[in-house]
Formats: sequence, C-alpha cells, structure tokens
Amino acid sequence: MSKKTIHPAKTVAGGVAPPGDKSISHRYAMLAGIAEGTSELSNFALAADCHSTLGCMKALGAEVKVEKMLVRVTGRGLRGLHGSWRALDAGNSGTTIRLLSGILAGQSFTTKIAGDDSLNKRPMKRILTPLREMGAQITARDDNFAPLEIRGGKLRGIHYEMPMASAQVKSAVLLAGLFAEGETAVSEPARTRDHTELALEEFGAPIERHGRTTRIRANGIRLTGRKAEVPGDLSSAVFFIAAASLFLDSTLHIQGVGLNPTRTTILDVFARMGASLQMLSLRSAQGEVIGDIAVKGSKLKGGVIAGAEIPLVIDELPMLAALGPFTEEGIEIRDAAELRVKESDRIAALAENLRRMGATVEERPDGLKVAGRSAGKLRGAEIEPHGDHRIAMAFAVAALGAEEPTRIRDAECAGVSYPTFYDDLARVAEQ
Ligand code: S3P
Repeated sequence: MSKKTIHPAKTVAGGVAPPGDKSISHRYAMLAGIAEGTSELSNFALAADCHSTLGCMKALGAEVKVEKMLVRVTGRGLRGLHGSWRALDAGNSGTTIRLLSGILAGQSFTTKIAGDDSLNKRPMKRILTPLREMGAQITARDDNFAPLEIRGGKLRGIHYEMPMASAQVKSAVLLAGLFAEGETAVSEPARTRDHTELALEEFGAPIERHGRTTRIRANGIRLTGRKAEVPGDLSSAVFFIAAASLFLDSTLHIQGVGLNPTRTTILDVFARMGASLQMLSLRSAQGEVIGDIAVKGSKLKGGVIAGAEIPLVIDELPMLAALGPFTEEGIEIRDAAELRVKESDRIAALAENLRRMGATVEERPDGLKVAGRSAGKLRGAEIEPHGDHRIAMAFAVAALGAEEPTRIRDAECAGVSYPTFYDDLARVAEQ
C-alpha cells in the first residue's frame, strides 16, 4: 500500500477495538527486560514503535517471544543486560530512544542508539541534561540529536525540576533512578501521563508521589516479571470518536480502551465541544483504568485548546485540528509549539493538508486556527502525511466527511501506531 483512497461516508456504525496502548506497551517491554523472570504481556501494541522497543531489549539480552498480541519477555534483572555490538535502532519512536536512554545511562557498558530520519531530527537535549546531571556520559550529534552514544556508569540521584511538561523526560529520569545511588525525584510543571509511575509500582519499584513530584529510591530494588494486560490505546480510539462525531446518526461502540485520568482530557475536550460520549464497563488492570466508550453522532461546537491542557492531549491535536472544518466555531490550538518537533512538524503538516482540502487555516508559531463549517465543506484531495502516522489517520477520518474521495500518500505510515487502522475504519464507515 502506498496510496490509500478514502471515500466519503454517510455514517459510522458498529464496533471497534483499538490496538494495545503504545505508551504502556513500551514501558512494560522495558521493565520486563530488566525484571527477573518472565513477563506475559497481553494485548501488546501492534505498533511498529513498540516493536522497535522489543528489538532494542532483545539486542540488550532480554529474551523476547512475540505471538501476535501476546509478548513474553524474559528479563535479565537490573544488572544483567549486556552491550550490543550494533547500534540500537529506535526506528520512528521518540518514546523508545528517550525512555531507554534512562536505562542505558545506568549500565556498565556503552551503547549507541539512533532512529530513522524523522527521529534523528527530534530534540534529545531534554533528556541529556538530567541524565548527565546524574552522572551519565552521553554524546549526541550537535549535542542535541541522535545518534546518541551513552556511556553508562554509576549514577547519583538528583531532584530534577523539569523545564517542560514531558512524560518522556520524566520517565527517562525515573528509569535512570532505578540505577542511581540515593533518591531520585522529578517535579513536572504540569501533569503528564503517569504510565511509568504505575508500571514501576506494578513491577515492584516503590514510588512516592506528592503533587507534581515523583520520587524513587533504588537501593536494593529488584523488579519481578509478571502477567500484564495492555489496555487499548485511547489515542487510537480518538480517530473513531472523531469519525463517529461527523455524522448525526452514527452509533459506535469502542471496546477495551485505556481510560487513565492523565489521558482522558481529550474526552473532556470532546464533551465540551458537544460530542456524545458514554463510558461503560469500567475495570482496572495494573493500576490502569479500562472501559468501553459509546459514541453517538452530534453537532460539534469547536472551541479553543490551550495552556495546561496541551500536554494532556498532545497526541490528539492532529485529529482535533482536522475536525475544525466540521465544527460550528472552528478549532483554535494555542501553546502547542511542541507539535513542531513530533514525528513531523505537525502544525505545518496540518495547515498544508487542511488547505489542500479547502479549509481556511491560520498557521501560528505555537498552533493554528481552523475555520468552522461556515467556511465551506472540505473537498477530496491528495494528502501528504510527511511520514507521520497521526497526520495520515487524522486526514483519513476528515476524508469521510469530504465531498469527493481523498488519497493519502504513504498511507502505511499509520502502522507506526495502528497497522490495521484502514481496515478498522472501512469496517465502521458506511458509504
Ligand atoms: C509519550 C509522551 C508524549 C507523547 C508521545 C508518547 C510517552 O511525548 O507525545 O507520543 O509515551 O511518554 P512527550 O513526553 O515528549 O510530550
């Protein structure tokens, strides 16, 4: 598949179960690799990104067996990984390189790690600063970009006041804290996803949390392999919430989705915009909340997304922006300059492709303003996702509500987080 054609739809109906959560799968795979014994991870993400993490853990000595969505990882214990003669390949995955760097900083060997062209252009200084403060020696291209060479060693605990709200930075420091002498603490300026904290507790590392500060004391810790179920990925489910919200008579049931409160701000945003959502069958697994979401079609109002909400909905902003032309007031995104250093420059990619479909867009350094319904209907177009999975999927959804068919170039890039996305979308979109 290189180009995918998406035809306009009349409604969205039926059921869908999004694949396992990408963020959680990365964390379970890494912790299982440094735990003692075998972990059995069910509903593990099909995402190419998480398979990059599994590849790295394997290269470092963990035993990894993949049977579709069931992944067995036999760990080496905290001190048992070995160096890899080849550079580790993080592929397209920022989470892989940034979180794993925290673990590699505490090893007694040197590791090289790099990724694809997109990843090698993304900023790494944000993790280099705290990890160096803890005692790791790391070199990077232009002191900011992969390839990284991480000379691990004895680490000391620090109290790191994060200058930015990033779960990846917080996680890199906490994971390095597993290998540090004394206490490691991280304070975040705004709340971000807390999957690392929950996963660390689950694998046996005591964590203390007070307000925005998380502490870990490594002395004598051992992690133990375990059975864990990965919830479905809410960030993937959002494409279907958006698709169903496009048509007044849609009814869609999304099954088994992770509803961790540090991820559900996107549901608040949808509700504020007038979406009809209901959460059902709530349960919990390893401290994570899981449930179903029932979506009905509705008239979306639109509105502004800004400030402390941004880090909590960062991965869902492409879909929200692409919904702008279907809303009453349009969508405005502010304070989101971080979008420019994701898998692509998402602000530029959104503005470019929205314009290709005929939308009225104002691009700003830290966001964009997309005009609502009164600016006219979207027309079919050729979409250029710039290799970015979330751009490809956001426009595949917008295409359902366009006047003519839309073609998505390089459509398989969706596989970075959701390899079966187009099939799942085709199953629920009724022409
Ligand atoms: C992630 C954190 C977020 C998010 C990314 C996954 C994680 O990145 O955008 O897709 O798994 O910790 P930042 O921490 O850089 O905001």
